[in-house]
Amino acid sequence: MRVTVLSYCETEADVAAHRYDPVVAQVGEALRAGGHHVAVLGVHGSLPQMLRGLERQRPDLVFNLAEMFGSNVTGDVALIGVLELLDLAYTGCSVGEAYLTQDKALGKKLLAFHNILFPRFAIFSKANNLETGGNLRLPLFVKPAHMDASIGIDKAGIVRDANALMRRVLAIHEECNDDALAEEYIEGRELYVSVLGPSDGEPRALPAIEIDFSGLPQGAPHVMDARAKFDTKSAAFRGTRARLAELPDELRAKVQAVALGAYRALRVRDYGRVDMRVNASGEIYVLEVNAACYLERSAEFAMAASAAGLAYTEIIQQIADMALARGKHHERRGTPLATRKNGHARANRAGRARTRHHRRAR
Ligand SMILES: Nc1ncnc2c1ncn2[C@@H]1O[C@H](COP(=O)(O)OP(=O)(O)O)[C@@H](O)[C@H]1O
Ligand SMILES: [Mg+2]
Repeated sequence: MRVTVLSYCETEADVAAHRYDPVVAQVGEALRAGGHHVAVLGVHGSLPQMLRGLERQRPDLVFNLAEMFGSNVTGDVALIGVLELLDLAYTGCSVGEAYLTQDKALGKKLLAFHNILFPRFAIFSKANNLETGGNLRLPLFVKPAHMDASIGIDKAGIVRDANALMRRVLAIHEECNDDALAEEYIEGRELYVSVLGPSDGEPRALPAIEIDFSGLPQGAPHVMDARAKFDTKSAAFRGTRARLAELPDELRAKVQAVALGAYRALRVRDYGRVDMRVNASGEIYVLEVNAACYLERSAEFAMAASAAGLAYTEIIQQIADMALARGKHHERRGTPLATRKNGHARANRAGRARTRHHRRAR
């Protein structure tokens, strides 16, 4: 079967030079090990170029690793829409579902319906509308409402009074061109729980990964900001590391249940990662749900899978199989199985068997 690994490149020059994130080669290799013909398609901001590439490669499946489009950080949602209109089978969320995890405030509203705990919050929109669900207790953590990969995340995001709050809100409006989300700051352990599977079936929660902040200088706030994630030379990067969480049985069961609940509530499919904090009283707060989290071999998802006894090639192939089993867009709408292409029928028989954290955790 022909699989196209679709990847976002930071510049058109990277596209031309075939310079991709390391995850691209890793996913490609895992798919080849499964007997697939793999091609890579790099895209920055040119839709015609992407369409030509897909036309040329004619994939049976797109393994979608695209995280944005051009300079549009939420462009990956629209990009999924293109795959859908082209009637291609692809990994990860479909277009409507993908938006749910990108809009952090909307996501919380969905979690509320499912009684899943999250930090109480207020939204300060660019249009200067204020939306809040109740009284908020300081300190607050202020971040952009739609970004990820720690864009706009900074330890200066922790605010302890109204002046600091308003300064930070304005900075996010101006620097990130986004609405500002102010959340109660949750002091406690930071856990990432990866999930593999369909949200409407039986997704599986993998062992929790914990961010160990103990290498940070005394008194430094425990926040996974952009430095801690990506700036390999910084004290924040060197002082934080992801490791398998050691949790008492009861807490382990609870965090996995919360992760599955959040994954389902936001309709993530194939794979994702739920970021949470556990405070001193053992209350579990969901900070963020990442659909299609970073699949790099040493990143949290693969680390958790490995702790569950799942080899890297195995998870990549499972994700591909799930997407194929779901089939193309129109097939979901009811084309009989018998008329499907061989590849799809085979994938179906083979068993039914996507923070998004760029580079390090995304
Ligand atoms: N309400 C909060 N309380 C405590 N820490 C937070 C809170 N929100 C975010 N953080 C810190 O900031 C990091 C990034 O926030 P997150 O919402 O996950 O954004 P991103 O999408 O950029 O990963 C978290 O991993 C955590 O360390
Ligand atoms: Mg995060």
